[in-house]
Formats: sequence, C-alpha cells, structure tokens
Amino acid sequence: MNENHWRQKLHLEPPHGWLNDPNGCSYFNGKYHIYFQYAPDSAEGKGKKCWGHYESPDWLHWDFTGTVLVPDIPQDRDGVYSGCGVPTDDTLHLFYTGNVKEKGNYDYINEGRGVYVIHVETKDGHQMSSKSVLLGNEDYPDYCSCHVRDPKVWYENGRWNMVLGARSRDSKGLVLFYISDDLMQWTFDHSEQIPDFGFMWECPDFFSMDGQNYLSASPQGLPHEKDLYQNVYSSGYFMYNKGNLDRYEEWDKGFDFYAPQTFETPDHRRIIIGWMGIGDIPYTNPTTKLGWQHCLTLPREVTRAEDGNLLQQPIRELGKLRQDKSDLSDGGNICLQGPFEILANADHDLEIQLDGLSLTCRDGEARLSFTDDGCGFGRTDRYALIGKGSVSARMIVDTSSAEIYLNGGRIVFSTRFYPKNPEIAVCIKGCSSTIYTLKEMEVHLLGE
Ligand code: FRU
Repeated sequence: MNENHWRQKLHLEPPHGWLNDPNGCSYFNGKYHIYFQYAPDSAEGKGKKCWGHYESPDWLHWDFTGTVLVPDIPQDRDGVYSGCGVPTDDTLHLFYTGNVKEKGNYDYINEGRGVYVIHVETKDGHQMSSKSVLLGNEDYPDYCSCHVRDPKVWYENGRWNMVLGARSRDSKGLVLFYISDDLMQWTFDHSEQIPDFGFMWECPDFFSMDGQNYLSASPQGLPHEKDLYQNVYSSGYFMYNKGNLDRYEEWDKGFDFYAPQTFETPDHRRIIIGWMGIGDIPYTNPTTKLGWQHCLTLPREVTRAEDGNLLQQPIRELGKLRQDKSDLSDGGNICLQGPFEILANADHDLEIQLDGLSLTCRDGEARLSFTDDGCGFGRTDRYALIGKGSVSARMIVDTSSAEIYLNGGRIVFSTRFYPKNPEIAVCIKGCSSTIYTLKEMEVHLLGE
C-alpha cells in the first residue's frame, strides 16, 4: 500500500512537518493569503513554531511561498504564535503572539511566560518588515494569567479593534478587547466572559452579519456531553452585544476542527477556515510517520439563518472542480477515488457508508461513526441533534478527510479519515443521491 494516497487534494497541508491554526487570512493585492502555524522541522509539532504562507488568486490555484515568519527576536523566541492579517491600501499588516518561556521553575500559567502582541508589515505577502512589539504582559489586566494570545483585528465605528484570547488567574476563559486609532497604539477597553465556561479561550474572532455581532472563540475545558463539547477542546460562536454573550453554538461536530478564523472577501462573503485537527487529542494521524501532519479545512462561506444561527457551505469556487456526475438510487453502490462530493436529500432518515466511516441521520439525531479503527486511528462516534423531518446532506470526501454539511450547513462534521486504499466504496441508503468526482486543486511549492 502506498500511503502517500493520503496526501490531500483539496485541503492545504504543510509540505512536511506540522500545521495547526490558520493565521492572517486575508485578501490583499489581488490574492487570498492563508498563513498557518507551521513547525517545519517536526511532524509532531516540536521545534520552531513559525508561520507558513499560501496564496491564491482564485481558491483553486495555490502557491506555497514557504516559512515567512520565524522566531528571531527576544519577544518571540519560543514561537511565532497565532494571529491575523489586516490589509490597508498597499500594506498587509500582520499581528501575532510572540511566545516566551522563561527558564526556571514556573507553572507557565500564572508565572514564567511572556506573551507579546507583535506587528509586521508586508507588501507582497511573504517578505516581511522588521517586527514591532505593541503589547506585553504589563499591558493586560492584572486578573489575567500569562495565557493571553491570538490577536484578531478589525475596523468598526471609526477605529481599530482587537480581541485577544485569555485565561484569568483563577482559570476562567475570557476575551480582552483593545482599541486603536492607528493600528500601533492600543488601549484596553473591556473584557467579556461568562461564568464557568472553560479555563481558557483561544483564537477569538469578531464579525457582524446582517446587523448582528458574533464573537467566536475556542474554549478549552468544557464538560463533555453526548452531543455537546465532545472533543477535548471546542470552537463556537456567541451572539454578542457589549456585556452580553448569548447562545454558544459549536462550529463543527466532527473529530477534527479547532481554532477557526474568519475574514471578508472583496465581494462581502464571510469565509471561515479551521484547523482540521486539535491539540491534545486521544486519536492519531498516520501521516506523522510519513513526515507531515494536519491540514486546514475547506474554506466555507458563512451566512445567517433566520434564528440567528450561522450556516456554513464549502466556498462556491469549489463548484468549478466538479467533473463526472453519477446518480445513485436508494441502496446503490459506487467505488471512487477522492476527492468527490455526495449530495443526498431524504424525507426522514438516511445513511451514507464509506469504507470504515458511516453517517446515520435518524429520528432527529446525526451520528458519525468509524466502523473500522484501521481508518479512524482512535476516532469513534460523534453526535449532533438535527431536528426531525427531512434531511439534506452534502459530503466532500478528500483522500484522507470528510466534511459533512447537514441541512444547509446548520450542522457540520469534519473528520480525518484514512481509507486503506485510494478507491473508496460508497453506499447510500434511505434516498437517491448525486455524486460528483472533483478535480484536485493546483498547488505549487515555491518555498520551504
Ligand atoms: C491554538 C493555539 C493558539 C496558539 C497556537 C500555538 O491551537 O494553541 O492559542 O497561538 O495554537 O501554535
């Protein structure tokens, strides 16, 4: 078996080494820029933590320009951690967390860690200016531990705004809000939290849709329940008005989703991209022994449903990759190589079976189950409540992942999935369905 058949064809991966969070997602100078947390020297995420960089004019043709930010000043010597990208006229401003672990006998929670907000500029996406340190530990409220990170910046009400994820000294997750007139001088404004909702909130994000503000975050330490917070760490969004966080909804119910980031395209679409992975998981990824680990999710368009919940759909440009179409009747089978896409609509229940992985929607509950641990590597079952009645399913299967969008993208499951052979058997029960094979994206590796 040639295990390189797990190299993804529709998802951005590191050429070697480890990838985690998407960073700096932006549109600048005629291209989409997707940076990511990159440990080029280790598929297990050890060694230097840097930013890698992909760019594309159209979401379908990508250039990997290499490692563009490395730890090289005292304030980021233990990692160029996550952050964002803000385009102004001819400059892309990047903000990230510089991580420093002091030598000594520290808990590294309340003591022993330096966390800096650092700014760099680029005119082309990959050549960087010198770094400016904008904020350090003394600039965060005194109730914060030294876990403060992941700046996300946006323009609103005539000024710049920044959120930072944080852990209080008594281990409660929260978000800090800062304001600025010039992107360089930042003043603390206020913080937001709700009682007892995890010990740390990472990678916060803020955006508005149809007049409603949303605050997204990745809380750590939520209690696991059957269909809520099933993973070691969660990611979701609140409806937000200053002083009020309402209705946390998880972005994704699958095994592999964390630390998403959103941004707006020039034609005003809100795009979300997540890490198709999570830290500290009890399952594994067999590509590690081949020299790389993890990928980003597909870019997804976010829209708002009438009840305020957010819907996600794969970015529409991926529709251009559709090739051969097959119609399957109820109970029909087909064998295909990834990537491919399944569309199914049922009046009540449906079941989609792939080799080793199945999705069942029955009596208002969706269940994603690995039926063969040889494909799941420790992944078992994930659940979501979808409401009784008709069900629509859209599944995008890449060579080693599946993303499932139920009921117009109200519920999404993302999972890594390692089929033994490139050919994957598909069987759909409960309804007829349409399947498209998909062309792969074009990716050029121009850097290391
Ligand atoms: C989330 C995270 C961020 C941090 C980065 C470090 O996965 O822990 O909070 O900036 O990863 O790689």
